[in-house]
Amino acid sequence: MSWRQSANSRLRKLTGFEIRRYRPPVPRPKAKPPAKPQHLPPTLHDFTKLSVLLHVTPAEFLEALGWPADEVARVAAEFAEVTESLEKRYAETETLFPSRWGVEQATGLTLYALARLLRPAVTVETGVADGRSSFILLSALERNGHGTLHSFDVPPDAGSLARGHARWNLTTSDAKDPRRTFTEALEGLDRIDLFLHDSDHSYQNQMFEYESAWPKIPVGGVLASDDVDLFKAYVDFAERLELSPQFLFDRRKILGAIRRA
Ligand SMILES: C[S@@+](CC[C@H](N)C(=O)[O-])C[C@H]1O[C@@H](n2cnc3c(N)ncnc32)[C@H](O)[C@@H]1O
Repeated sequence: MSWRQSANSRLRKLTGFEIRRYRPPVPRPKAKPPAKPQHLPPTLHDFTKLSVLLHVTPAEFLEALGWPADEVARVAAEFAEVTESLEKRYAETETLFPSRWGVEQATGLTLYALARLLRPAVTVETGVADGRSSFILLSALERNGHGTLHSFDVPPDAGSLARGHARWNLTTSDAKDPRRTFTEALEGLDRIDLFLHDSDHSYQNQMFEYESAWPKIPVGGVLASDDVDLFKAYVDFAERLELSPQFLFDRRKILGAIRRA
């Protein structure tokens, strides 16, 4: 019998306990946080945990982004005229894309007002289709008398509503590798004052565009995205960078915007 066994048999009799060799606990490898699911739409909570209020009017959305109510009202009042010229443009233009792809009325007004309030030198939009959002943004640049809109789409016949505008630079992206075209074009821009995503809404493509554009956005500039309700890319991006987005609940879609602090 070893010394430990004989000592333990005595101890057990006397106290009911015995001596054991101390083995320090083996540290368990930390469980990896579960990967964020990319195929799910955001829940209402995903929006409210990032934003104090959910907005249903362009005015409250723009004021929450930091513009005074009187300035917002002044530029919003110009939008009736833009809507009228856009309708005329539709009447004289052959459109090719489904009309429901175009930005909705409150989103259109918001984009116009954003471009008027920011007075961007450089605006970038992805996803043109017939050019509804392009026409609206260009109307604001025209009124500003300043700035260029750089737009990206894949089909070469996109953008009929805005074709020929002096402040427009439309790039037809390589259908096989649109991200390469976009990346190369962005290398030629030293800043993006206003960015609008409205192209391929897959989680991966949204994240790619936000991550590409964000480093070029100066303080005060805006990263906007239509259809942020389809996947969680916009809310995940904002959460990861600890940004404060605002959300406009339009009739069928949700527009997100982050103003760089
Ligand atoms: C929702 S529509 C754009 C609507 C437009 N903003 C408007 O208000 O009329 C989406 C467009 O994105 C384009 N698109 C899809 N993938 C793209 C990509 N990777 N880069 C650029 N455009 C893309 C499609 O060809 C389509 O015309």
